[in-house]
Amino acid sequence: MKALILAGGKGTRLRPLTYTMAKQLIPVANRPILHYVVRDILEAGITDIGVIISPETGESVKAAISTIFSGWARFTFILQDQPAGLAHAVKTARPFLGEDPFLMFLGDNLIQGGVKQVVDALAVGSAAVVILLKEVADPRAFGVAVLDDRGQVMHLVEKPKEPPSQLALVGVYGFTPLIHHAVERIKPSWRGELEITDAVQELLHTGHRVDARVLEGWWLDTGKKDDILEANRIVLDEYTERRVEGVVDAESVIAGRVTVGQGSRIIRSTVRGPVVIGSDSLIEDSFVGPFTTIGDGVVMREVSIEHSVVLDGCSLERVGPVEDSLIGSKARVRRTDGTRRTLRFFIGDDCEITI
Ligand code: G1P
Repeated sequence: MKALILAGGKGTRLRPLTYTMAKQLIPVANRPILHYVVRDILEAGITDIGVIISPETGESVKAAISTIFSGWARFTFILQDQPAGLAHAVKTARPFLGEDPFLMFLGDNLIQGGVKQVVDALAVGSAAVVILLKEVADPRAFGVAVLDDRGQVMHLVEKPKEPPSQLALVGVYGFTPLIHHAVERIKPSWRGELEITDAVQELLHTGHRVDARVLEGWWLDTGKKDDILEANRIVLDEYTERRVEGVVDAESVIAGRVTVGQGSRIIRSTVRGPVVIGSDSLIEDSFVGPFTTIGDGVVMREVSIEHSVVLDGCSLERVGPVEDSLIGSKARVRRTDGTRRTLRFFIGDDCEITI
């Protein structure tokens, strides 16, 4: 079986960060989302992996995968020249996919427990497609499935205004080559995209079986700023270990599960986990509270921050309390007046802000 990772698109819902980086490379607990996706695929035993990339961010996606995983699998990078939908991506990848069954995984989705249950269900069953579903409170932003009493998929609809169920389509699909014929038959949706949901619905129409698995663990679709913060919170909560490789001076307090990377220095500060701090960062006279990830080469002086993500190379001076913030690489934020108001930011790369 092959795998197809979708790491193209423009990431418009995550601007301004995605003006300068691929949404799949935004880090969660200091690792790009895409790394979790590749890890899950490898853990499911698949080593022949196609990756859909876009002209804008393709090179950075290639680099992010190759530096970590090149010895572990064979990667084929496939350029999709425009973000014309998930089914269009499958069409674009047809020469790579050939007549093999494949697992498709959207590169901005994070799920708990991996994808083995989908791979196994496709391998043993007689279904044309296996989809993964998650019960959510408001499924209007997703594909939605209706199942019969035996758990068989009856009907699918993309982003319905009035959802027929609470079961959202998670961005993980097991396909047999039958999907290619369905992709050929569908027309673009109201948003101008060839929807994979429509292609699966087309297979249902023509009498094929579509099986579903319902995910019990968490699912994070990292489409927007708050989704990234939520993903950061959950991943930090679950995986952070106490590991201090950098330097912590005698006047600092490190409480709970905190990871401090090599070359980082914590001076006269309190860090309360779960927190991950990358390498070569300086935290001075500051408070770093729970659910915060700080990248590499960050400088913080007199800052109070929690429940936030600060990307590499940022410098923050005399700001805070800062919470629920996502701060792009090399951004510089400093305060020159005396106020101490709570601040919430969504700042792109290379910005400079003085308060
Ligand atoms: C896509 C699919 C949708 C699915 C979602 C999961 O939506 O079209 O059915 O529920 O991914 O992330 P999009 O991200 O293109 O809006």
